[in-house]
Amino acid sequence: MRRKLIAGNWKMNGSTAANAALLDGIRDGLGDARGAVAVCVPAPYFAQCQSALGGTSVKWGGQDLSLHESGAYTGEVAASMLTDFGCSYVIVGHSERRTYHGESDEIVARKTSRALRSGLVPIVCVGESLEEREAGKTDVVVGRQIDAVLNALDGSELEKIVVAYEPVWAIGTGKTATPQMAQDVHKMVRARIAQKNAEAAAKVQILYGGSMKPDNAKELLAMADIDGGLIGGASLKASDFLSIIAAA
Ligand code: PGA
Repeated sequence: MRRKLIAGNWKMNGSTAANAALLDGIRDGLGDARGAVAVCVPAPYFAQCQSALGGTSVKWGGQDLSLHESGAYTGEVAASMLTDFGCSYVIVGHSERRTYHGESDEIVARKTSRALRSGLVPIVCVGESLEEREAGKTDVVVGRQIDAVLNALDGSELEKIVVAYEPVWAIGTGKTATPQMAQDVHKMVRARIAQKNAEAAAKVQILYGGSMKPDNAKELLAMADIDGGLIGGASLKASDFLSIIAAA
């Protein structure tokens, strides 16, 4: 039985004051959540998460990491800097990074390896655009994205990743994949992992992301291969995030 994971993706939102209220709200309202919970926040707020969430069951992480270990890479944040501030997770290959920062499948694969070698759990994002879905190319596109990552890892590393299926057309749009649409892709992703390592495939958490909200979380999370959610907009309001956690 895979444990559910509900991870917030704050994207480029927040301020110390707003974060304090949000983190207090999450910590105080959590109760005895069954699943694992994490927030992926902008790098300047790692320290704030460390002091607000240290000693609780809520983990924190980043939204990207550098391909490089250290050195002359202005503006980049190294994996070692995430772990220095207690991060457990890092989002890799979010569609916003692929689209706005030209991150290729190859870069995403290399960042995934870098995260693993640094002791971070990468949340590897995959997903098709609306055009690709309408052209019937979902499996080809998502298959290509996941294979690039799987091919870069060795067998023992596979079970340490988390995958997030995020159809690009559902992110921030209020449109959600139906539970069956998401389940079909999750099942395909798990089958791809199983081709490399069946034992790992049974363990890997595959999250759904794309307008997951309190009113649709339960149905999505009830599907056999949906092991949690990567939550954007709804993770910025403690009550909404807590409702999704309660549905897991
Ligand atoms: P959303 O974002 O929940 O606001 O659609 C999800 C994501 O981009 O990770």
